[in-house]
Amino acid sequence: MKIAIVKERRPHETRVAATPETVKKLKALGAEVTIEAGAGTVAAYTDEAYAEAGATIAPDAASAIAAGDIVFKIQRPMTAEEGFDELGLLRQGQTLMSPLGALTNKELVQALASRGVTSFALELIPRITRAQSMDILSSQANLAGYKAVLLAANNYGRIFPQMMTPGGTLAPSRSFIMGVGVAGLQAIATARRLGSVVTATDVRPATKEQVQSLGAKFVAVEDEEFKAAETAGGYAKQMSPEYQAKQAALVADHIKLQDIVITTALIPGRKAPVLVSEEMVRTMKPGSVIVDMAVEQGGNCPLSEFGKVVEKYGVKIVGPANLPGELATDASALFSRNLLNFITPMVDKETKALTINLEDEVVKGTLVTRDGQIVHPSLTQA
Ligand code: NAI
Repeated sequence: MKIAIVKERRPHETRVAATPETVKKLKALGAEVTIEAGAGTVAAYTDEAYAEAGATIAPDAASAIAAGDIVFKIQRPMTAEEGFDELGLLRQGQTLMSPLGALTNKELVQALASRGVTSFALELIPRITRAQSMDILSSQANLAGYKAVLLAANNYGRIFPQMMTPGGTLAPSRSFIMGVGVAGLQAIATARRLGSVVTATDVRPATKEQVQSLGAKFVAVEDEEFKAAETAGGYAKQMSPEYQAKQAALVADHIKLQDIVITTALIPGRKAPVLVSEEMVRTMKPGSVIVDMAVEQGGNCPLSEFGKVVEKYGVKIVGPANLPGELATDASALFSRNLLNFITPMVDKETKALTINLEDEVVKGTLVTRDGQIVHPSLTQA
């Protein structure tokens, strides 16, 4: 088993798919590891540290990928049109383990199948207890939720906690977290730690108790539709236009009083729902800050711009391009451990080879292409 890791070349990407710690563990599993020179530099993992852990350093992406029969990546492979042909470096019989955005990037999936690459889409790891340690969406969203609050604090001209000084008392900030998944929960906890008064909303009823247990107040339209708004996989459903209108009215009243709004709402495979309209932004206090964590999926606020901080109606709107990437060292460490935990059950203890058990729930959930075919049920039925 030979594993290859390359430097990530997509704009805003700073993370790397293995760390010296996971290289050691992969070697203990029986793997040889090759990593492209400089792949971990931005995340503060040096070539020397990788070499010390037992990895071979390859001078460029082509030679790194050529040395592996399994390729680990943080971002889906780039194409020649995107500026660097990673896809073209993958060969028949090779296995790719990477987030692919498989449900939306159908051309990429087709290209992987045509090249005879076996590919696993890591964003599709099922949300079952056994797979929690492999869940890249959770590990990265957790860090992103934390960082979003810090970005909000940095863009806010006031402090978060109440502060009593000889010159007078400063009031605590009010933060509103919209979407209480993994990122939202961490944002609530972080904003509370900084001393903000926190409220939060979500369409999944299970989140109410979670919000309250973190010491925040839950704000939502709790009607019959809300009570049924969670899929078996734990994700949100697309809500009806009637629900969205009621939700918008409630949010419109609440948002006027907020200083910080952090939006994290996503629906898998769809554009992010619009939760903060231009009209709502107009009613917010000058100096307030919105961090739109859904900006990559179209945004929860139509005014947010990818990778930018814009000011509209006196409100700063932050559209971060890659939040986990702003915590490159820890984000790489967690992502790499997720990958290690993903591959470990697939390695045959005796032969030390990768053995793909097609009956395994995690394999079934993530295997997208194999033997020249697209094999994932969500893609073959479409
Ligand atoms: P996500 O990133 O897909 O969405 C973020 C949040 O936005 C979700 O809580 C969703 O309900 C909410 N949302 C969607 N539409 C909305 C709307 N119109 N208004 C307000 N909020 C809206 O979700 P994430 O964070 O990936 O996970 C969702 C849940 O899955 C977690 O909270 C957790 O309960 C569960 N989970 C289970 C795991 C396991 O058992 N292994 C692992 C990770 C998560």
